[in-house]
Amino acid sequence: MEFVRVDIQGGIARVTIDRQSKLNALNAQVLDELESCFEDLKNKADARIIIITGGGDKSFVAGADISQFPSLSSAEAYQFSIRGQTVFSLIESSLKPVIAAVNGFALGGGCELALACHLRYASTEARFGQPEVKLGVIAGYGGTQRLPRLIGLGQALDLLMSGRMVGADEALGMGLVNGIFDGAELMEKVEEVARVILKQGPQAVAFTLKAAYAGAGRPLAEGLAIEAAAFRDVFETEDRIEGATAFLERRPPEFKNR
Ligand code: COA
Repeated sequence: MEFVRVDIQGGIARVTIDRQSKLNALNAQVLDELESCFEDLKNKADARIIIITGGGDKSFVAGADISQFPSLSSAEAYQFSIRGQTVFSLIESSLKPVIAAVNGFALGGGCELALACHLRYASTEARFGQPEVKLGVIAGYGGTQRLPRLIGLGQALDLLMSGRMVGADEALGMGLVNGIFDGAELMEKVEEVARVILKQGPQAVAFTLKAAYAGAGRPLAEGLAIEAAAFRDVFETEDRIEGATAFLERRPPEFKNR
């Protein structure tokens, strides 16, 4: 792969989008590479949690590649949106947790990529925004839908209609990110977060993601039914016996991901 690197160590897969000459903007090839990378990671037992970051120290992802925009017909624009949405939905539907380590500009498709991740941590230098309206277009990789769901309609419309960029502190205040770390320490700190999750029952973490996303946006009663079914299914796993037994025996659990 030319623009997407994967490095797996200690259960953590670090995915780096590296197209620094264009601030890691997403063209069709980057999307293809991201898709095949996430398809591969599904089946890699040594990758239990995934961190996505941007190559270099300036940008996470500066958006979809704008150079493609002028020649797009409206029919092609529709396919362009569906393509990005499909790849980001693949990421969001991962049953291995996906964490965005936002190390710089997360604009347009870059902000939308972070939104499709399960957790987001920013460096102090990170800048977030949905500047599509400045180009006379709208967010098309999930921004008009995932941003309101994450931070509320009012705050989302502020970003989506003004196109303004916000720094890490403002993003934290809006609930757009889970935490902020110094740039030099970002990856190390995000890996610490990942290692805490890695200690938990992997099946339990996967069922948590499944239930939370399946219920999101549905009426509470439907969400609770989804939760009860997931709670039932997790009791089919071996790890839940190990979890309770280890607690009663006052020792750390040894989960087998079964
Ligand atoms: N698509 C295509 N190319 C992009 C890009 C994008 N989304 N974002 C940055 N680039 C390219 C620039 O065209 C430039 O390429 P060049 O050197 O061949 O001319 C290179 O990346 C560096 O960007 P530059 O604008 O010179 O850096 P900067 O530090 O002055 O500004 C940004 C950084 C992020 C503020 C600015 O690049 C920007 O506004 N990018 C577009 C963000 C955006 O609107 N994203 C949403 C797209 S829908």
